[in-house]
Amino acid sequence: MDCVIGKEVEIAAEWLKKGYAIGIPTETVYGLAANATSESAVLKVFQIKNRPSFDPLIVHVSGTAAVDQIAEVPDTARKLMELFWPGPFTLLLQKKSVIPDLVTSGLPTVGVRMPDHPLTLELLQRLPFPLAAPSANPFGYISPTTAAHVSNQLGDKIPYILDGGPCRVGVESTIVSLEQDTLIVHRVGGVSVEALKAAGYKVEMFSGEQDIPSAPGMLDSHYAPLKPLYFGKASTLFTRKYEEPVAVICLDQSSAGVVPEGYTLYPLSKAGDYAEAAQHLFAVMRLLDESAYKTILAIEFPEEGLGRAINDRLQRASIKRSV
Ligand code: TXA
Ligand code: MG
Repeated sequence: MDCVIGKEVEIAAEWLKKGYAIGIPTETVYGLAANATSESAVLKVFQIKNRPSFDPLIVHVSGTAAVDQIAEVPDTARKLMELFWPGPFTLLLQKKSVIPDLVTSGLPTVGVRMPDHPLTLELLQRLPFPLAAPSANPFGYISPTTAAHVSNQLGDKIPYILDGGPCRVGVESTIVSLEQDTLIVHRVGGVSVEALKAAGYKVEMFSGEQDIPSAPGMLDSHYAPLKPLYFGKASTLFTRKYEEPVAVICLDQSSAGVVPEGYTLYPLSKAGDYAEAAQHLFAVMRLLDESAYKTILAIEFPEEGLGRAINDRLQRASIKRSV
């Protein structure tokens, strides 16, 4: 299939109405989108990504009004939508039957979010259905944050990528469910735990029985480059030898002092800013995976703000290979 990269919302809408899956921009990462109410369209998403059917998709909507058509919305959930939409915030709600079981992997809940990207919001407003969209990468690989990332990997399988420029947030949405006045965080992401607490909520990390074998990118190994990536604190990371040349992902230049001679530093931010670091994370991981480096190291971020989401992605990228 010849894949076109363009900025035409109308063309994107036409492909989606015909039942195709296409690439779409969001503020977090690019999505592989299809009509969320069509089982055959959603099936294409699973096939193109090589995604196991037990891993449910997030449904993207144009606003709060559209949610009522696909899910039961308690008043407490409406408050959350007002606070965090549009934005990197996915809410798990009881689904209505218009959403095929395939989308939710048979779960009674559906993940819903309103993305904060002008092109995709315009697209959603034009469509008579919401869009099921996982990240537009082959299952288990690094998520895409540019249209070129999508086309490099899925270009032969989709007809169109709506190009909305590089993603502003750079890590996926925070996924939460609501129990009374407590937010249960199923995946840390673009809205920090601190921001949830600042809005007056109690916050707990999801720890119960996994409702599915792999919740949110929750398979242990995920977001992973093909090269070995080792993740940890500088104090343990640099006590052993690695195959060289070695690249080191870190927050900023301040790590220069702790890195052994000959290793090359890749600071994700100039000024030690977590938001800027998150924005660059996946693009730098991809760059290093495609480079001549033999080993990628990543120094743990402080567990605060978006540092938490960055650590989560690096941990899953490195799993079973950590020092
Ligand atoms: O920022 C994002 O959320 C991006 C953009 C494209 O919107 N999407 C994204 O989708 O990260 P994906 O499929 O890569 O990750 C969604 C995760 C899945 O791993 C899935 O396990 C979890 O959301 N999920 C979806 N529905 C769920 C549900 N009903 N219960 C628990 N987890 C759910
Ligand atoms: Mg993903």
